[in-house]
Amino acid sequence: MIRRIKLPGWIVIFLLLAGIVFGIDKVFVKVFGESLEPNEKIVDSSVYPGLNIETKTRETDLYTSSVSKPYTDNEQINKLMNEWIDEQEEAFTSGIEESKNMLEENDFRAHLNIQVDTEKIADKLYTIEFQAYQITGGANGITKIKSFVMDLNENKLLQIDDVFQLNKSSIQDIQELIMNKLHSNEEIKPYILDEEAEKALNDSNNWKWSVTPDNVIFYFDEYEIAAGAAGSIKVEIPIKEIKPYLNETFAKKLNIELTEEETEKEKKSTEDYPQLDPDGKYVALTFDDGPHPEVTPRILDTLKKHDAKATFFMLGTQVEYYPELSKKVMEAGHEIGSHTMNHYDLTALELNQIIVEMQQSNDIIEKATGRTINLLRPPYGASNSDVEQAASGMDNSLIMWSVDSLDWKSRNAAAVNEEVMSNVSPGSIVLMHDIHPSTADALPQLLTSLEEQGYQMVTVSQLLELWDEKDVGPHYGK
Ligand code: NI
Repeated sequence: MIRRIKLPGWIVIFLLLAGIVFGIDKVFVKVFGESLEPNEKIVDSSVYPGLNIETKTRETDLYTSSVSKPYTDNEQINKLMNEWIDEQEEAFTSGIEESKNMLEENDFRAHLNIQVDTEKIADKLYTIEFQAYQITGGANGITKIKSFVMDLNENKLLQIDDVFQLNKSSIQDIQELIMNKLHSNEEIKPYILDEEAEKALNDSNNWKWSVTPDNVIFYFDEYEIAAGAAGSIKVEIPIKEIKPYLNETFAKKLNIELTEEETEKEKKSTEDYPQLDPDGKYVALTFDDGPHPEVTPRILDTLKKHDAKATFFMLGTQVEYYPELSKKVMEAGHEIGSHTMNHYDLTALELNQIIVEMQQSNDIIEKATGRTINLLRPPYGASNSDVEQAASGMDNSLIMWSVDSLDWKSRNAAAVNEEVMSNVSPGSIVLMHDIHPSTADALPQLLTSLEEQGYQMVTVSQLLELWDEKDVGPHYGK
């Protein structure tokens, strides 16, 4: 877009003179503002909504420069980024000034290159990482890195306190994380100067950092904490390692992006079991002592084919070995309860030991599945007032059974089916074990028989809900 503008003669002469002195483009831009810029600004065609960029290049006999400048609609954010860019350009200009003679003698042109790496962290939450490389003479160029993390929803640059939860101990932990990463990188490890690194990390206000969807990054300039051969250093710490030290509000913003898949799955399994019809014919199948790497997956398969739900009372020791498997059980929509840590007869233990047995397994299962445990099946069905007290203290209900499949005894599929079918009635809680292959063998026929008699397989919690039994129990089923 070119405008024709009629100017008085003396102004034209003045502008031409000024143009000769200051560079014609600068003067015209100064006088006419943006209107002479050849590129029209296209609003928000950027793949980073709210963020745009322009790259300015220059070439003279002495140097070339290419500077990428991102900009937002917020003047304050632009100003802070531009200040840093200006600093680099000024350092470059004075570097050229100093080595002007050498450049001319050697027929060498200096270079400045400021490049930008943009990362979308979440909606309108970006990290902009500048890398400024300049060489004005000497043998080596210098690279400087600078990052800005911005929240364009709130139109501000995030400060360290916006991202981290900083106190004496978290600062120490983060410093340790960084030092460990520095030492575990074989390429740069030999060049690291520990004392310098510790000095650089000492004051969290001086940390140079940024965030990507996967990592928190800490930056060190060339020569800052290592011999020059290491160059400038970036330490990437996976979000899941640094998560405990993130500011809660910020973690929440990240979470939306990070665990979308997880929350999706969680939603599925928390479509919390539909309420039952008071006149329905229900049975709760329960599986103890697992998870077992071979038997449990077979049982999950069969349950899925019959669209049946069950309850798994898992042992802490087993879950410790097979956390993924217990998660799979949960994700398949089944219920998980605890069967204690080590399968002791709890009635033989002191109260404090009982509590430990319960607490350990609850912790392990909760860690593996992300779900709170509120059902406990005491090993051997052995309970007393101490057991009830401990369970009640953890808000767990004690779940016994009304039908024992005797699968542990017969180890025979036909016998298991016979035993269950001849004892089952509406509201039964059936005891089985997902550690015997014969139990997995029995299940397809058992489910078919139960279906033929009009039973629907539900979880223990669904039955308790139906019966409005919310106390510690023990609950045996009807
Ligand atoms: Ni058991």
